[in-house]
Amino acid sequence: MSAKIAVLAGDGIGQEIIAATLGVLECLQQEFGFAAELEHAAIGGAGYDAYGQPLPEQTLAVCQQADAILFGAIGGPQYDGLERDLRPEKGLLKLRSSLSLFANLRPAILYPQLADASSLKSELVAGLDLMIVRELTGGIYFGEPRGIRVLENGERQGFNTLVYAEHEIERIARSAFDIAMLRERRLCSVDKANVLEVSELWREVVSRVGLDYPEVELNHMYVDNASMQLVRAPRQFDVMVTSNLFGDILSDTAAMLTGSIGMLPSASLDANARGMYEPVHGSAPDIAGKNLANPLATILSLAMLLRYSLRELELAERIETAVGEVLDRGIRTADIAGAAASVGTSEMGMAVVTALRSAASR
Ligand code: IPM
Ligand code: MG
Repeated sequence: MSAKIAVLAGDGIGQEIIAATLGVLECLQQEFGFAAELEHAAIGGAGYDAYGQPLPEQTLAVCQQADAILFGAIGGPQYDGLERDLRPEKGLLKLRSSLSLFANLRPAILYPQLADASSLKSELVAGLDLMIVRELTGGIYFGEPRGIRVLENGERQGFNTLVYAEHEIERIARSAFDIAMLRERRLCSVDKANVLEVSELWREVVSRVGLDYPEVELNHMYVDNASMQLVRAPRQFDVMVTSNLFGDILSDTAAMLTGSIGMLPSASLDANARGMYEPVHGSAPDIAGKNLANPLATILSLAMLLRYSLRELELAERIETAVGEVLDRGIRTADIAGAAASVGTSEMGMAVVTALRSAASR
């Protein structure tokens, strides 16, 4: 059976990193009999330019019919002045919520070959392998009412609403416990229960779900402490689960611990493991179109797509092994090269293809 993959390159470096990743996908088709139909669609600024909407109707339809979505990046300074509903970010948020992609998996893995790239001392981060599970379709990102209103005295007031219903907390907690079961079976739930009622409920529901997972060691941490612990002793964590906004913030910190945000993939899954896969980094308009971006986060996102949505575990591992080999050979894009020589986006993609091909002939 042929898998249907929607390809949403988006803006900035999105085009280049997706092109490099499609080279890898093509190699899987040629060398390993992988069958996939690709359908390209416009999203973000590219969607606005082509159809006047950051998430055009036809794009949503393509995504709804796909088994999985491969996503590049969105956003750029030319769109910053648009009204909020037309901005590229809105396209991404609408896609997440229309497809109920509530479970966002953001691994932060330190590749031994890149141990020196971290801004933390290497003894603190050596061997780091943590997974942040971020709730992605609720919380303050989507809560109503929201807006900017004018008070009686004429002063303006901005407001957003932080809400979580029990079922939203319960399903993300289950996702996190399930993932913890496949790892070291330690789960840290991050909240602000000393101040927020929403967090009090969050803590209660996560603990209740935990009763179904006696093998998983559960602890709770306030978000301010968690952010400190992440830079103090990050290896204490195996899996972290948290709300939309806290997860947005903590996952950037975790990514930076590895020193190479250009290396980190992510998955956003619905209840049936249909999902969207994208690099953790953004559209990097400053280096767009210059063949400088690191395509490995997107290539590793393809590996996650194969593993989580298509259950092609062997192909996923082949990609990850090929990426490891490329790093072993000292091939680096500028973001991870330090003072050493670097290659461009397309050359990095080709290097992964070469490693895959030579594995096929072994
Ligand atoms: C992310 C990004 C998005 C978010 C933006 C682009 C809307 O920061 O995926 O982490 O805040 O979720
Ligand atoms: Mg973010």
